Amino acid sequence: MSVIEINGPRKLSGEYNVQGSKNSVLPILAATVLARGECIIKNCPDIIDVRTSIEILNYLGCKCKFEGSTIIVNSENISKNEIPEDLMRKMRSSIIFLGALISRTGRAKLSFPGGCEIGPRPIDLHLSSLQQLGISINNIHGNLECKIIDKIKGTDIVLPIPSVGATENILLAASICDGITTIENAAQEPEIVDLASFLNKMGAKIYNAGSSKIIIEGISKFNSCEHSVISDRIVSITLLAGAAGTGGSLCLKNISPDLIRSTIPVFEESGCIVKQFSNSIELIAPEKLHSVKEIRTMPFPGFPTDAQSIIMAMLLKSYGTSVFIETIFENRFKHIEELIRLGGNIKSNGNVAIVDGVQTLSGAQVKAYDLRGAASLVIAGLMSQGKTIIDGAEYFMRGYDLKLFPSIKLS
Ligand code: EPZ
Repeated sequence: MSVIEINGPRKLSGEYNVQGSKNSVLPILAATVLARGECIIKNCPDIIDVRTSIEILNYLGCKCKFEGSTIIVNSENISKNEIPEDLMRKMRSSIIFLGALISRTGRAKLSFPGGCEIGPRPIDLHLSSLQQLGISINNIHGNLECKIIDKIKGTDIVLPIPSVGATENILLAASICDGITTIENAAQEPEIVDLASFLNKMGAKIYNAGSSKIIIEGISKFNSCEHSVISDRIVSITLLAGAAGTGGSLCLKNISPDLIRSTIPVFEESGCIVKQFSNSIELIAPEKLHSVKEIRTMPFPGFPTDAQSIIMAMLLKSYGTSVFIETIFENRFKHIEELIRLGGNIKSNGNVAIVDGVQTLSGAQVKAYDLRGAASLVIAGLMSQGKTIIDGAEYFMRGYDLKLFPSIKLS
């Protein structure tokens, strides 16, 4: 494992072109399996999870080229329908290949996915939804053997929670089928809308993505297509929080403020000036931030769980007390102990954390356990006096293009 080194304090300021969205590009890359031709995907971030997806595609028999920020995938010849365990374990999103692979080849064999340590991450909703579509799934000692029983048949699926991944797997599996599928209580995240828009360009008939009831009219064949991935809303929030926490000012280009509309009031409440334009955002931070009232994570359009640790780091040196309530994942507070090592004053109990602002933070050796926890440590490192060493740089590199953070050193 490599480490990130930051010599703080460093202001995060300047102009940034936001990278493409990780959580959009991963399911879109999985969807290219369906194309039987060449898809051109633009605005792709150069991050570890994207490289892992390309490894999976190559393993399955696709030919991939990653040039600049464009990935070209030719999926004319798919020669395998299993994904080896070592690739499955590298990231949670590997499970999204299930819906695409089964739809393309009729069979899929894979193990349970890996991913960040943010609590148990079951896939029961993915599996039960696929079963409702007519797919048989056998779990043999942790290996999933899946096949289409007769054919994929449109049906009405009601998700008990609006799971992002389960919604994506249904879109991938049900686009080619007989009949109409509806997903009730579907996830409404912008990344779902982006995946549906990509699939529709390939010929799918998906309606109402972005609402809680998605309708999929089955088609019989996909075309190849060209698509530009939306910008990464969590990377945008990370850069804004970095500027806010360090007293910087910055301009984000290539991002619609609408994608982060639930977090803009938090920056404003903390004392930042935020200017919103059609495809850019400017932020000017005060010398010292104010605390904010309760932040409760919720599915989109609520406050994103992925931004919880990041905003917590931003408020470590604010005046007053801020309260965080994590409602999506059971164990998404591992960063707290590490932020305390840097001098943060945080108390947590269950899914509630209380942050009391402090005067100073001091650099220390800390450890990242997940992607957004790593991002919170980077922000806190920039806000701290002296050297911060973050163990587990790979977590950060799973989601962030290092080019956006020139003031951090990797070794
Ligand atoms: C996606 O994960 C994102 N990952 C996560 O981003 C994000 O935190 C999460 O959505 C919530 O917004 C990708 O898009 C690649 P879920 P996903 O299924 O799809 C429970 C990041 O840092 N659940 O919406 O795995 C689950 O345990 C990452 O970029 C089940 O119980 O999230 C959780 O409590 C991390 N059974 C809740 O639903 C299931 O079968 C929401 O999970 C599936 C999920």
